Amino acid sequence: MTSQVTKAVIPAAGLGTRFLPATKAIPKEMLPVVDRPAIQYVVEEAVQANLTDLLMVTGRNKTPLENHFDRVPALEDALEKRGDESRLTAVRRTSELADVHYLRQGDPLGLGHAVLRAHQHVGKNSFAVLLGDDIIDDGGELLREMLTLHEKTGASVVAVQEVPTEQVSSYGVVAPHLVDGAPESIESNDAWPAVWVDGLVEKPAPEQAPSNLAIIGRYVLRHEVFEVLQRTSPGRGGEIQLTDAMQELAARREELGGVVAVVFRGRRYDTGNKFDYLKANIELAAAHPEIGEQVREWIQSYASTLTNRPTQNR
Ligand code: UTP
Repeated sequence: MTSQVTKAVIPAAGLGTRFLPATKAIPKEMLPVVDRPAIQYVVEEAVQANLTDLLMVTGRNKTPLENHFDRVPALEDALEKRGDESRLTAVRRTSELADVHYLRQGDPLGLGHAVLRAHQHVGKNSFAVLLGDDIIDDGGELLREMLTLHEKTGASVVAVQEVPTEQVSSYGVVAPHLVDGAPESIESNDAWPAVWVDGLVEKPAPEQAPSNLAIIGRYVLRHEVFEVLQRTSPGRGGEIQLTDAMQELAARREELGGVVAVVFRGRRYDTGNKFDYLKANIELAAAHPEIGEQVREWIQSYASTLTNRPTQNR
């Protein structure tokens, strides 16, 4: 096994149905969050963790993704002539961030299928997976911690977040391995609690959920996952689920290295979900160096007008 991870796979071929009609002609990953498309935060996060060989798994309608990370000479020339250095830097930066490769998924048969499509590019190396519609505040730090845990344990690593029990049915959920009734934890620093995982289940009913530790969109996987995915049948929703393949990695810890879950306690946004998307915009705008102060003042004055305002139907 090679533990030095350099490659990341970014699945971005989902249909984005929760955000229709906005995502009818524009991929959800291209919806802007403050001043850049959601996908750029994900690419920047991978780069912060020193992953610079990126494979984006895309589908139809997704050419704007490729355009965003490409050079636009005419635009650059125009900005240069105007002497608009800051915008020129911002435009150039997107094409210089990383070495981005693209692959079409074909039929969107599920996240597991999208990851399987990366097999040839990744080869026999461990690799990271970053979901293209998940923005994680300080995600670079989380990813670095996951890579360290992978190196230390040889396991595949998944990021989880504690969620209220009534929300577990929206996520994949992990079952921590128990020793004498307590989760088997891995010695790491207090900021990043990590536990060995016995099982993973996709979108369980709250009464059947093994814990409230919900999988969020960051993984470091051993290459053996490809062999498992090749024979993983469609699961929940008729899709090939990455969670189902990881269940086998967890169950065969001796041979396949097992699975470790690291608990993330920071802010994370699923930008394919309307409410989370709005939260991402408001919270990141409030922290933005250029407009943050204005936004914070406006939020405070707007909040004071919000008493009993009726919902608008459009
Ligand atoms: P989601 O379930 O959030 O994406 O998948 P979706 O299918 O676009 O969502 P809906 O239609 O709004 O419910 C999680 C991640 O897996 C990718 C998505 O692009 C997203 O990053 N994905 C999902 C694929 O790449 N291919 C697929 O077949 C399914």
